[in-house]
Amino acid sequence: MNQQEAANRISHLREELEKHNYNYYVLNIPEIDDYTFDQLMAELIGLETQFPEFSDANSPSQRVGSDLSQEFKQVAHKYQMLSLSNTYTEEEIQEFDQRIRKLTDETFEYVCELKFDGTSISLTYENGLLTRAVTRGDGEKGDDVTSNVKTIKSIPLRLKGDYPAEFEIRGEILLPFSVFEALNSEREEIGEQPFANPRNAASGTLKLQNSSIVSSRKLDAYLYYVLGDNLPDDGHYELLQHAKSWGFKISEHTRKCQTLQEIFDFLHEWNTKRKDLPVATDGVVIKINSTRLQQELGFTAKSPRWAIAYKFKAERVSTRLNSVSYQVGRTGAITPVANLEPVLLAGTVVKRATLHNADVIKSLDLHLGDQVYVEKGGEIIPKIISVDMASRHPMSEPVLFIERCPECNTQLIRLDGESANYCPNETGCPPQIKGKLEHFISRKAMNIDGLGSETIELLFQKNLVRNIADLYDLKLTDIVDLDRMGEKSATRILDSLSTSREVPFERVLFALGIRYVGETVAKKLARELKSIEQIENATLEQLTGVEEIGGKIAESIINWFANDQNRLLIERLKNHGLLFEVKTEQKEGQTEKLKGLSIIISGTFEKFSRDDLKAFIELHGGKNVSSISAKTSYLVAGDNIGPSKLEKAQKLKIPIISEDELLQLTN
Ligand code: IVH
Repeated sequence: MNQQEAANRISHLREELEKHNYNYYVLNIPEIDDYTFDQLMAELIGLETQFPEFSDANSPSQRVGSDLSQEFKQVAHKYQMLSLSNTYTEEEIQEFDQRIRKLTDETFEYVCELKFDGTSISLTYENGLLTRAVTRGDGEKGDDVTSNVKTIKSIPLRLKGDYPAEFEIRGEILLPFSVFEALNSEREEIGEQPFANPRNAASGTLKLQNSSIVSSRKLDAYLYYVLGDNLPDDGHYELLQHAKSWGFKISEHTRKCQTLQEIFDFLHEWNTKRKDLPVATDGVVIKINSTRLQQELGFTAKSPRWAIAYKFKAERVSTRLNSVSYQVGRTGAITPVANLEPVLLAGTVVKRATLHNADVIKSLDLHLGDQVYVEKGGEIIPKIISVDMASRHPMSEPVLFIERCPECNTQLIRLDGESANYCPNETGCPPQIKGKLEHFISRKAMNIDGLGSETIELLFQKNLVRNIADLYDLKLTDIVDLDRMGEKSATRILDSLSTSREVPFERVLFALGIRYVGETVAKKLARELKSIEQIENATLEQLTGVEEIGGKIAESIINWFANDQNRLLIERLKNHGLLFEVKTEQKEGQTEKLKGLSIIISGTFEKFSRDDLKAFIELHGGKNVSSISAKTSYLVAGDNIGPSKLEKAQKLKIPIISEDELLQLTN
């Protein structure tokens, strides 16, 4: 390669890597897998070494990615949080070993551990108490996410045993596969884009502003690195065992190795066994055990000399793309699915792969008949990674996203800022109608016993139901005649519909199937606005004043009520006796001392948990709000209050009070 060619290639690689860094760290929507990213990075580093005249302090090779975000206080790391260099072959591990042996004559041991594929965290403990949790950020400083991390049950808030007075411990926060799958199906239910993989879901969750939602997401954490000045042992492995006795979750699958062969055995063993683990792993980390020797060897600019990551190669096969079909969800979102020539991958026959949305098809530049690479990573559902361009037939047709709904032929729309295409024919498109009915009767919504998707299908085919209100017009004679239905089952369905009149308002609201109104949002709306009339008449500002509700959700609610057919639906359901307001029962200790006050709480408190404090405010008639506006009556400030909130409150001259002062307001 001559100088000019190198310059061109370097500038191309830098652009590409910057783009992928942004997709990964900022947008949380990676377009390429780690392996491809690392290959591009390795090529860039190689060229930059070969042609030092093109070096650049701002090249993507010079930095570790950043996950810093605006809303959290940023704090400097006491010890830099560097990443590891990645390898993919045993030869590279051999080279790593040789590099170390050139730097030291002493005999030493290695430790092999699993490389957990989540989001990294650094925890500080002082006198046995968790005092701070910080994300990696740019390696120098990270986001203070202490209040969110405190919700993770496997992270001890108070240590046991004989721990050092002050130390840091680092590890990985993960979302177990089972929780990830449940979370994604819930998101798809309400029309939200699912997370691409458990890692994105974990990092997205950790950055949520509301720690009660973080708590409900059931994150988990494995710790793998103890740092400090007065640690009880020299050995990294031994320190981890100590950490285990202090109450940390340490992987059981960590092993000391003396030889390269033992390391390779560990790699082979876990390449398969990792598939049985409840959380995602993407490789093995090999570290020198002695922390004294670690210190002697030190770091290069980006990573330690005493450790290396071996990345598992995701299983990948090549197969033919036969066609693309399109599925219509309950909310009208269209999901493209690739139909593949059946192929064996990681033990199962793969025939289909999700393509997510039109952007994915475009970025892959898919053509019909393409030979595509399919991979099964942590995400379980196979996906197309890339196209073998060399084998593409010159006459092949590009895959063009459909313009009309495959089910009802309505022109599709794409909303601003969203990646999905929608069929807007909410009330006339069969899968949307059936999907809405299925959602309405589901366990978490109206919980109509005896009614399932098969019966819904039959009722739809017989033209007996076209919307959720029609369910309440059903008669015994309508149902009894359906296939495989007897009088007993039919009566059970009618009874269950009848008792659904007792279902609390928040669940009825969820059952309506308004886009983005999931269980949590419905609960918050119902508790705050109390009745369907209040919600229907709320302005955008009133809706966004409710905790958890942003512009996107508020707009979706307003649009839903703007539709006459939806309002008619509510009228009919009301006539059938469904609950459309919060039933208020007098609670013990209830007063109206905070009536008319909009209160925002920020930080952590001594006497109350955040949720209890909010419940206390409600008990005394106050309203909890999540964002500060000129209308906010008080900001109740706890420890570690968010700096942006504090600044805004001061700017708007909102009175800032303590937990005790709030108590005084209610005597
Ligand atoms: S040790 C200085 N051990 O992988 C090295 N890292 O690319 C400190 N990771 O940022 C890291 N499992 O988020 C270490 N058993 C393990 C790991 C691990 C996952 C992550 C960690 C780190 C990244 C390095």
